[in-house]
Amino acid sequence: MEFDFDVHKIFLEPITKLDCTLNPARRPLISSFEAQKQIVKVIDEIGKLSAKAQRLPVPITSASRMQSNKHHLYILKDCTPKTAGRGAVIGFLKVGYKKLFVLDHAGSHIEAEPLCILDFYIHESLQRNGFGKELFGFMLRLEQVEPPRLAIDRPSEKFLSFLRKHYNLRSTIPQVNNFVVFDGFFRDRKAPV
Ligand code: ACO
Repeated sequence: MEFDFDVHKIFLEPITKLDCTLNPARRPLISSFEAQKQIVKVIDEIGKLSAKAQRLPVPITSASRMQSNKHHLYILKDCTPKTAGRGAVIGFLKVGYKKLFVLDHAGSHIEAEPLCILDFYIHESLQRNGFGKELFGFMLRLEQVEPPRLAIDRPSEKFLSFLRKHYNLRSTIPQVNNFVVFDGFFRDRKAPV
């Protein structure tokens, strides 16, 4: 995903983490006003592409949604010499904590606030090259969470295959909402006091 501005001037790291302020930890090399405008454009564009890939009626990731939620967005840029000019964005991953009622193996409703995977997209031309794994692994390290502890919001078939392949997540615990949780979600979880 290329833009009519230099991605390397707004995202200084290979993977940039954004919260509701949309300010990267490392300050962009252009004015903060200009950087915000460009970051908004990147988020809105990649959000649209993700929605299209998942056949969603509207994007679930946009700059305005980011600004009104406590989500974390991880954006992976292309660091290869191929796009050394203005750079390009390869994909993104959006996560956030949500209060959910999750069914355990016995079918009891358990209140939990897991880290949820909310949106995940790698550009079509670059899928199956390990970029998704790179981004996901980075997020796991920063959020300090083990894969079975995650709840996944309506995973696509590609994403389920990704989780099986890289994290051996196979058996799900049936739920009545749109979230998917895997065996191990409740393991060693502290009982609520
Ligand atoms: N068909 C089936 N499985 C796929 C495909 C595909 N076209 N693409 C990736 N995968 C899975 C497979 O398990 C694949 O391993 P394999 O090639 O040995 O079969 C594995 O992912 C590859 O791993 P990576 O290269 O690290 O993953 P990638 O960079 O392709 O990113 C992602 C995975 C994000 C799911 C990507 O394929 C994508 O953007 N898909 C379209 C959008 C999407 O479905 N996003 C998830 C929505 S659900 C949610 O966000 C909660």
